[in-house]
Amino acid sequence: MFPNYPDRNSSRRRFLQTAATATAGGVLSYLGRKNAFAQNPPTCPTAPTGGTPFAPGSDKRPIVLRKSISALSAAELTQLQTAFAKLRALPSTDKRTWVLQADIHALLCDQCNGVSMQIHDSWNFFPWHRAYLYYYERILGSLVGNLNGFRLPYWDWENHRSMPGSYLTPANTGNSLWDSNRDSGIAGGGSLPPTDGTTSRLTTLYGLTDFATFGGSATSSGACELDPHNVVHGDIGHPLSPYLDMGNLGYAARDPIFFSHHCNIDKIWANWNAQTGSGPTDYKNPTDPAFLNAKWSFYDENQNVVSMTAANVLDYANNLRYTYTPFRFHIPIYEIYECRLLCCLPDPDPWAYIQVSPETAVTLLQRSSANSLITLVLTGVPIPAGVMGVFDVVAVRNERRTQLGTLTVLANNMPNMKHKPVTLALDIGKAVPDLLAKEHPAGIQLLARHKDDKSARPFILRAQKAQIRVERAQ
Ligand code: C2O
Repeated sequence: MFPNYPDRNSSRRRFLQTAATATAGGVLSYLGRKNAFAQNPPTCPTAPTGGTPFAPGSDKRPIVLRKSISALSAAELTQLQTAFAKLRALPSTDKRTWVLQADIHALLCDQCNGVSMQIHDSWNFFPWHRAYLYYYERILGSLVGNLNGFRLPYWDWENHRSMPGSYLTPANTGNSLWDSNRDSGIAGGGSLPPTDGTTSRLTTLYGLTDFATFGGSATSSGACELDPHNVVHGDIGHPLSPYLDMGNLGYAARDPIFFSHHCNIDKIWANWNAQTGSGPTDYKNPTDPAFLNAKWSFYDENQNVVSMTAANVLDYANNLRYTYTPFRFHIPIYEIYECRLLCCLPDPDPWAYIQVSPETAVTLLQRSSANSLITLVLTGVPIPAGVMGVFDVVAVRNERRTQLGTLTVLANNMPNMKHKPVTLALDIGKAVPDLLAKEHPAGIQLLARHKDDKSARPFILRAQKAQIRVERAQ
């Protein structure tokens, strides 16, 4: 059986031009922190430019499985620890250093004054991070003399809800996988919040057949980048002082867990591509030359400048020499209903709410009571300038709050950084009766999860387009 999206060919979208209005209070308090593990602000390195272009087929190493951290042998774990220890010990003049590599990520996150480069918030997100991981993996592998065999492991947080113990203990600078700036609950071995990075979240994502919704477009981020990518970042390091690193784009790649987190995100992209849909572009990457020809420079394991295009990374097994355990997903069959996200229900705060046709309402209520998957896809959602933090996206009706998803805007060091519009895929299955109630329907509200976070100013959700994808009745 194949999924059937009735309007899967009508995915061309125009996006809101958002007027950036808000200012950024409190951002400067992120700057100027120091501690033993060298958490200085990004030093804004000179960007590597040009370099030897990657030639497909030139990497002739064996194709090696990237594994879950939980599946590493004792020897493989020791190798990983040794690789990071050697990376951290490199002299500061070296082009492979842990800090320089992290600062290159910061540079490409628009975190350096006077430089405007951004590989987040768009379809560049997946391919840039895949290329970055490739060269990082080669650097680590060569440092332990195992370029052929060393591959990054992933933290599959959907299955293992707390951070792997080797990244947590010993909790000191003798542990090359440890980082001092993490949420205290996570750092103490606690689990991710029960709503975040779950298998049901991945089910929602794998049900999105078009790349623009799943992985982004030239002008907007995809649903996977926001949730779970940003969400897990923000759970490990709140986008709030004093938690830096994973919660802040300028520091995130200083935490070794960044690479295991991104390896898992890369696996999710690979899994998505491995599915077969009913339409010719379902589960396929964009073919637009503007996507394929994007090209970025890196330092390789010999400190040489090299470059790689998005097109180079798509066939990761043959070109980049790693693979993941084959993945099969039971793809639900969806129907798509157009709807509207409106502003505002007035009381007591202004909230967005959804409006559907009476016939659609009947269908949605039936499917909701049958526990079908129901996803509200919002595209072209503007993020006001200066807003950062973790928001629970909830349907609120009277005293009842139903979690629909999580919206995390990562912290950054540039007070005026503008975000492109984002795509949200919200699981509204349980909230349908409240959202469609005739009297006082539920509003969709953002609630700041960390009450003391001044930058987490809730805003009213708006969307250029809203649609509801409903699992077809069996
Ligand atoms: Cu470039 Cu997970 O961020």
